[in-house]
Amino acid sequence: MADRDFTPAAGKLAGVGSYDALIRLFTRENRWRPQLIGRIDPRPGQRLLEVGCGTGTLAIAAKSLCFEAEVIAIDPDPQVLAIARNKAAEQGVEVDFREGFLDQQSFEAASFDTIYCSLVLHQVPPETKTELIDGMIALLKPGGALQIADYAKQSGLMRGLFRLTVQMTDGVADTQPNADGRLEELLRDERLQISQPDGSLATPSGRISLFSRTRK
Ligand SMILES: C[S@@+](CC[C@H](N)C(=O)[O-])C[C@H]1O[C@@H](n2cnc3c(N)ncnc32)[C@H](O)[C@@H]1O
Repeated sequence: MADRDFTPAAGKLAGVGSYDALIRLFTRENRWRPQLIGRIDPRPGQRLLEVGCGTGTLAIAAKSLCFEAEVIAIDPDPQVLAIARNKAAEQGVEVDFREGFLDQQSFEAASFDTIYCSLVLHQVPPETKTELIDGMIALLKPGGALQIADYAKQSGLMRGLFRLTVQMTDGVADTQPNADGRLEELLRDERLQISQPDGSLATPSGRISLFSRTRK
């Protein structure tokens, strides 16, 4: 279904089959993923959307925490979705995984309680960063939550590690705006307000930041 190019989960140097192992090794995921899931905090009857779900780790965790919430998870890569679907089946969790980019999905405006997106925005082209944030805001109900975890502004040692790891696999053109603070700028959108303090974690691949925003 993908009618345009995208950077796959593990970048252009490694296959998607190695993604989960690379994330375990290079991102301290046992620290930031539980924090993100705590912020997502799925509740019965809520409708959740994950953008760029990769191998499905977060979507499966969200659904496992609250079976009465609807979790839809999209990604343009059929290979990574096959892994996600297998993981969900093995764990007996039903997630609605859908192939495609955000703008190829026919979702009603203002129809989600929570939208979340992790480790995607750093690896998409600059114009796609803007389009994705814009698209996610449009799909949130007023009062709905936008939860982001990603490489954002980097400095000092973290900038060096980011250069040696993420930028080697995902390239510089798409990732440098994040290292320079573009994500923080985009999240200052006037339609959003801060709902929890921004958090961050130093990792072997650079600093991963968490942002919680509410749609006004
Ligand atoms: C680094 S992985 C992150 C996966 C998952 N969110 C996680 O936390 O492990 C980035 C994912 O974004 C997807 N992706 C790339 N370009 C995208 C785009 N324009 N829109 C949505 N997803 C995209 C890739 O296919 C990949 O699965």
